[in-house]
Amino acid sequence: MLFETFKIKNIELSNRMVMAPMTRTRSKNGIMTEMNAQYYQQRASVGLIITEGTSISDNSMGYLYVPGIYNAAQTESWKLVTDAVHLKGGKIFTQLWHVGRVSHISNQPNHFQPLAPSAILAKDSTAWGIEDGVEGRVQVSMPRALVKAEIPEIIQDYVKAAKNAMLAGFDGIEIHGANGYLIDQFLNPDTNIRNDEYGGSIENRTRIMLEVIGAISAEIGADKVGIRVSPYGTQHDMSLFSEIEQTYEYLAHEFSKRDMAYVHLHDQGLLYNDHFDFIEKFRKWYSGNIIFAGFLTKEKAEGLFTKGLIDLAAFGRPLISNPDLVERLKHDYPLHPGNRETYYGYSIEGYVDYPRYEELSEEEKQQLSGKN
Ligand SMILES: Cc1cc2nc3c(=O)[nH]c(=O)nc-3n(C[C@H](O)[C@H](O)[C@H](O)COP(=O)(O)O)c2cc1C
Repeated sequence: MLFETFKIKNIELSNRMVMAPMTRTRSKNGIMTEMNAQYYQQRASVGLIITEGTSISDNSMGYLYVPGIYNAAQTESWKLVTDAVHLKGGKIFTQLWHVGRVSHISNQPNHFQPLAPSAILAKDSTAWGIEDGVEGRVQVSMPRALVKAEIPEIIQDYVKAAKNAMLAGFDGIEIHGANGYLIDQFLNPDTNIRNDEYGGSIENRTRIMLEVIGAISAEIGADKVGIRVSPYGTQHDMSLFSEIEQTYEYLAHEFSKRDMAYVHLHDQGLLYNDHFDFIEKFRKWYSGNIIFAGFLTKEKAEGLFTKGLIDLAAFGRPLISNPDLVERLKHDYPLHPGNRETYYGYSIEGYVDYPRYEELSEEEKQQLSGKN
């Protein structure tokens, strides 16, 4: 089923493969360039590309060199990317990102503290920033709790970014509600100890997520809005809290009411292996399209399709080092191993220089088969 066409509302996808959002830290001042356009165009044979996390405001940034979509220059620069992908018949959503507490003061305006639901530090969690004049991995800074009046401002930043995404030619947007960033921090009672209507009960902890979805949908249409979540995710010092299942059951019903483009489940490692029944339950709770990401292979994805549990399969790391992943999986060609050293960093290396299988010499093809 991986290579069958699929429709997300009015958007026709050429296959059911999705490029998972991946931060590559190859943008200066949040601006996209021809190099970024080339990278995405090389991968446009997947049914849908979801871009790397993209900052919605100057206080939403956690890492140096990530793109933004909150000012005119950034928005204009994304047209290079959307045009390049559309030219190849691809479809592309951008991932709207506020990191919340996962930031360092060097990435914040005026070196202010990062913003979060509550003033709780993400221990042993790093960002990419500047400390003592040196650029590198830095322990994230102690955040400051958002005052209630600031929350509508953040929601408006999401809306503005979504409107900019439409101006930039995106087919839709994905709200980043996963991986321990701002919206996920609100969901979890260990990172959200607020005592106003944004903390406490499940309804309160999920409020900001649902308000962001509602506000963006009112502007660009719910059919262009997806949400990413990571149940049982522990990245960035997130805990496995006791009400995980109830929280996502409530959310699944709320998502269903909103008739959105999709829900994107990101498995950080525990979902498929330890909580497979959650995937089955989520399918029953949620009536819309489901994208699944995390450690997928062709076989694993086909298994999930056959069981009727997902609609689209997202691939991350394999798409970094195999721009022609669709062709490779279709023909069972060997995959090129990735190089973690070049996942991040401002260089061409490990970014646009991975060859397509057909570009390899016979000798290189044989060497690659030996490695697989
Ligand atoms: C280099 C890198 C950057 C990533 N950046 C993001 C991101 O910006 N937003 C996000 O939601 N997930 C991000 N992820 C997670 C991926 O979207 C994906 O879910 C994860 O890599 C698991 O899929 P895989 O096993 O196919 O790689 C990133 C992963 C990698 C390897």
